[in-house]
Amino acid sequence: MRILAVESSCDETAIAIVEKTNSGQFKVLSSQVASQIETHQVFGGVVPEVAAREHYNALVPLFQNTLEAAGLRESELGAEIDAIAVTQGPGLIGALLVGISFAKGLALRFDKPLIPVNHVHAHIHGAFLGLDSLPTYPMLALVVSGGHTNLYLLKKPKDYLLVACTIDDACGECFDKVGKMIGLDYPSGARIEQLAKAGTPDLSTMPKLVPVKSRLEFSFSGLKTHMSKKFKAIDDPNSQETFDLLASFQETAFDLLLRKVVAVAEKYDNISGLVVAGGVAANKTFQRMADERLDFSLYFPKLAFCADNAAMIAANAFEEIDDHNLEVFKAPFDWDGYPRYEFAKYLRRDR
Ligand code: KG4
Ligand code: ZN
Repeated sequence: MRILAVESSCDETAIAIVEKTNSGQFKVLSSQVASQIETHQVFGGVVPEVAAREHYNALVPLFQNTLEAAGLRESELGAEIDAIAVTQGPGLIGALLVGISFAKGLALRFDKPLIPVNHVHAHIHGAFLGLDSLPTYPMLALVVSGGHTNLYLLKKPKDYLLVACTIDDACGECFDKVGKMIGLDYPSGARIEQLAKAGTPDLSTMPKLVPVKSRLEFSFSGLKTHMSKKFKAIDDPNSQETFDLLASFQETAFDLLLRKVVAVAEKYDNISGLVVAGGVAANKTFQRMADERLDFSLYFPKLAFCADNAAMIAANAFEEIDDHNLEVFKAPFDWDGYPRYEFAKYLRRDR
């Protein structure tokens, strides 16, 4: 079975075609991403209206590239795929509606079901792409991206219990804001990781974040404020002092994430492993620290599937249709995109 998926929730337009084999493995036939980052960099962050217009311009050529890379012809696509999937939210509402409209058009044209997918849950599925065997339930999943810091308990497929989330900045957002303080381009997570390699971390000089074990929340704003005070006292952003501070900063952020994971794992029985997903999951220091401190199996996505992509949307869509008749997802598509603020309400209910 094959699914063509469309992703347009933020500043990356993505289309992928993924096959699920009879033995349950995913085969990514093509995964194309058109990044808008350079367009938004001059503004220091993503401008929603600009993002929507960029998706609008990128989708048609990206669709053609995706087919070409998968070795498929547009005229024969109806016979080659079984369903279309699309990110329903959370995300920038204008950006989402462009992708959803495009996907609805494809679904109508090729007479296929259209499966709406939750972007944050899909990040978790991105970590499953390329695995020979999937982790067993119950497992924990930590999504650490520019928009979310969510820790889920997954007792069974499709059962995402949100057990901790950030009460202020997301972890990746904190990296981006700290980067901005020393003049780094948005998004600055990967660059901070690179600069931190030249530094020596010293966690004793950093604030101990949310030490109360029973509170299953993340908070990064205190760390951000601490960094801004430290940088005010430094003249040269390219100094050894800066590199040391960045090394301490990222390890403090990761220490917070891992302490919460350990606290949650102690609360629930038989956790088989932790899936880490989202852009921050690409950080090698985080991967090493997790490896050293957690004594269960760890699943990190391949680099191409850490950041936003459409292969993860397709992978999640396979789970959505597992016990459904595909007909349920056929036109009329009587659902809408949901924006980030609506998702916040949903999260509160979820907790
Ligand atoms: O998952 P993603 O591509 O987009 C969202 O859905 O937000 O994550 C992007 C975020 C950005 O905040 C970026 O700075 C951060 O992930 N990031 C990193 C690294 N690579 C990307 N943060 C820390 N270390 C990295 N190597
Ligand atoms: Zn994302």
